[in-house]
Amino acid sequence: MAGDLEQKWNGVAVRNEFLNFFKEKGHTIVPSSSVVPHNDPTLLFTNAGMNQFKPIFLGTVNKADPMYTLKRAVDTQKCIRAGGKHNDLDDVGKDSYHHTFFEMLGNWSFGDYFKKGAIEMSWELLTVVFAVPADRLYVTYFEGDAASGLEPDLEAKKLWQSVGVADDHILPGNMKDNFWEMGETGPCGPCSEIHYDRIGGRNAAHLVNMDDPDVLEIWNNVFIQFDRQQDRSLKVLPAQHVDTGMGFERLVSVLQNKRTNYATDIFTPLFDKIKEVADKQNGGKFVVPAYTDKYGSDDPELMDTTYRVLADHMRLLSFAIADGGIPNNEGRGYVVRRVLRRGSRYAATYFKVELGKFFSSVLPALVEQMGAQFPELKDKQAEIAEILDEEETAFKSTLANGLKLFEKLADKARKDGSNKISGESVWRLYDTYGYPIDLTQILCDEANITFDEAEVTEAQDKAREASKSAKKQGDTFPKLDVHHIAELNKLSISTTKDDSKFTKDNTKGKIQTIFHNGEFLETTKGLPESSRIGLVLDKTNFYAEQGGQVADVGKLTVGDDVAFTVLDVQTYGGFIIHNGYLSYGEVSKGDEVECEFDELRRAPIRNNHTGTHVLNHALREHLGDDIMQKGSLVDEDKLRFDFSHKKAVSNDEIKKIEDSSNKYISQNSKVYAKEVDLTKAHEINGVRAVFGENYPDPVRVISVGVDVDTLLADPKNPEWLKYSVEFCGGTHVSETGLIKELIVVEESGIAKGIRRVVAFTGAKAREAQRVASEFEARIKSLETMEFGPQKELEMKAAQNELLSSQISTLAKEDLKKRLAEVTKSILNEQKARQKAEVKAAIDNVTSFFAKPENKDKKFYVGRATESADAKVVAEVLNHFKKKEQDKSCVVFCGGSEGAVSHGTYVGKNAPTGVKAEEWAGLVSSIVGGSSGGKEPTRVGQGTDAAKIDEAVAKATQWFEEKLKI
Ligand code: ALA
Repeated sequence: MAGDLEQKWNGVAVRNEFLNFFKEKGHTIVPSSSVVPHNDPTLLFTNAGMNQFKPIFLGTVNKADPMYTLKRAVDTQKCIRAGGKHNDLDDVGKDSYHHTFFEMLGNWSFGDYFKKGAIEMSWELLTVVFAVPADRLYVTYFEGDAASGLEPDLEAKKLWQSVGVADDHILPGNMKDNFWEMGETGPCGPCSEIHYDRIGGRNAAHLVNMDDPDVLEIWNNVFIQFDRQQDRSLKVLPAQHVDTGMGFERLVSVLQNKRTNYATDIFTPLFDKIKEVADKQNGGKFVVPAYTDKYGSDDPELMDTTYRVLADHMRLLSFAIADGGIPNNEGRGYVVRRVLRRGSRYAATYFKVELGKFFSSVLPALVEQMGAQFPELKDKQAEIAEILDEEETAFKSTLANGLKLFEKLADKARKDGSNKISGESVWRLYDTYGYPIDLTQILCDEANITFDEAEVTEAQDKAREASKSAKKQGDTFPKLDVHHIAELNKLSISTTKDDSKFTKDNTKGKIQTIFHNGEFLETTKGLPESSRIGLVLDKTNFYAEQGGQVADVGKLTVGDDVAFTVLDVQTYGGFIIHNGYLSYGEVSKGDEVECEFDELRRAPIRNNHTGTHVLNHALREHLGDDIMQKGSLVDEDKLRFDFSHKKAVSNDEIKKIEDSSNKYISQNSKVYAKEVDLTKAHEINGVRAVFGENYPDPVRVISVGVDVDTLLADPKNPEWLKYSVEFCGGTHVSETGLIKELIVVEESGIAKGIRRVVAFTGAKAREAQRVASEFEARIKSLETMEFGPQKELEMKAAQNELLSSQISTLAKEDLKKRLAEVTKSILNEQKARQKAEVKAAIDNVTSFFAKPENKDKKFYVGRATESADAKVVAEVLNHFKKKEQDKSCVVFCGGSEGAVSHGTYVGKNAPTGVKAEEWAGLVSSIVGGSSGGKEPTRVGQGTDAAKIDEAVAKATQWFEEKLKI
């Protein structure tokens, strides 16, 4: 029976049925929006289906946008609730129905049907189409909230009664459960939920909204009527809308008659894959038992919990990364990193997985399962896998060391009976081992240990202060001069071996000396906290700044007791000094330290360094052989390359240079490195070296796409010009595909005959391309937008943001041109409107005097146009000066509020003594502002257009009085 249901209502069938049901009821099926809301800084992740419709609810949609005419919509939205107002991270793994990533099925009415339509359709779909027994369903309505001045939603209650829901299945709910808000601000309103009792044959009303896994909310119907303001007040929206959200995974479990979401075909293929991969990647240490869907105390070894965490996190990670949510150290990016680290720890601890390629190996199962509905997973599969591997590998070594430290701390806490670890320890796990605080929380929960959050904050503040003060004491660390080096030689200290900077091995190095305040010390004992210190090691894997590549940063540790934060690394005569400060403990000469450079920073540096070589090669291909490198900088954000060239590089040339570079990248050419006898190396046809630079002998040769030995076997071969071959001591990618993409973001001249190109690669390039395409969409909407103040405002904002944006030079150029066209069209439209306004204003005047009753009128006072256009005033005055010299006038331009323009003309037949200045002065005293000009004309600007009618009346009266005299 369950098998049949599973087949009938498999995940894909349920999703399609939902979409089609609403499609048949006049809804447009729209695609899910990105799960990373790049344009909405108020949101961490897309947390509900309605997010993409926020502009419709708030009435800010551009008329030309297809959304403008949308009345009914339906979709399945990718959602993440792992931070911010809606956060389910802590429940994941533990219970049967929470997920950090889930699909929300939703239907919407934008000012179309309201409560009745929503309630009737949801009931029909559930009880008729999906045939869910009505006696298992419970509904809620908003009970009102006196404090907010909100009435109970009795209308919803009645509607539920009228579709046939029994009274004892209709329950009132409070602000927390039955008033839905998207975030701190934004659209919101009372809601009505539908809950399902998995057990049946009883009245489960008392279990609704009680966190009972068997009585769970499946659908929420929100009646959007308000916009929550910053000051917490509720502003009534101009129209009433419906926003609904049904948990896809929950619905599938209900329809398949399963007790939990995880027992459905949405998760089981992932579990199968997880088992297969874990069994392979734990080196046979452990056979992972098959998933049994047990919870809490029924799962004492946390086997099923681990399955659930891994599958859930896998989904979050893949979808977030596919939509541009790249792991990093802040905001959204840190949520992604945190989730990956949590997941990695479950895989390593419980399934004994050797980390490095775990998540990426499970990925194909997810793509297989969801790639048809969400093609971005397929399109980005390789990129997602790479990022997962990079992150997982970077966490691998610190995970193990951190666990050791944690065990030690926990043991101590148990022994001393406190069962508590200090906030400083928690911070240390974060700072030295990269443990997100919530991961440490899980470890503590599992070990029955606690910590005090306030203490963690205190430790964090202290560490920040230390780092600030170490950095603040001058931007650069003191250099070793010739005397220092002589002293080192005298102390018989050997130069530092750093070959392992090219491999990824962790190296142990021995402290040879400690440099502080110009002196070499044997120990740091006695030095003040956060002193700036330099450590000279015998061996290191850190990269010291050289050849344009910035130095590595990272940590040097001694067991659990010492952590030295490395902020800079320099080499002086072969002595490599690691500059920074001690975060914990003391060090002395002879101590062995573990060298741990920041691998996640090294990766983009590698991309940028090989990217520089690829670019250098493309420059020569398109600008000629006289391109000589004059300088370069390679850091984690960008590459900067200076070279001799007489004129600016044109956009056409930039295009060719980018295309060639990207071709080289997409070929995924292998990158070779070899130390070669200097004279021999110079013989290689086309080899690039910086003129005047003193290269060591042997010199390191980096070649891309052809190995160095092949080059050396036939050094003069003209074919070699096709390849990038350079002398270089930097760190490089193993194959060019890792660079992903190279885009030029700046081309400029820095001195006579010297040009500079700045370029992005990898994730940074992709992000820049994403920003560019968002700009493109924005400009496209501006191009079709109706003329008006909104268009002008948005145009100005786009112009300013474009100037400071970090996007590709070519995209920027193109977008600038398109914006210039929009500006031109705005100006033309303004001119045409002005012309029409002038004509209408003059027509007003002529038709006024043409009326028989006005034949003898000596003056005209009136409003010419609704816009406060001074030019229209000037033209009307000109008309009087030329064609109605005898008549006098006051004309106004302006709407119902805001600025006013006005003009006054005193004609030849005006009573003696009438001055334009006086007449205009009266006007200014009413509409504000002042006027100026030479008799008999006067023009002015006012501030209060609401008073124009009053000004017209008073100015008329004033002239009439004068006529009487
Ligand atoms: N936006 C509503 C929710 O997320 C439907 O529950």
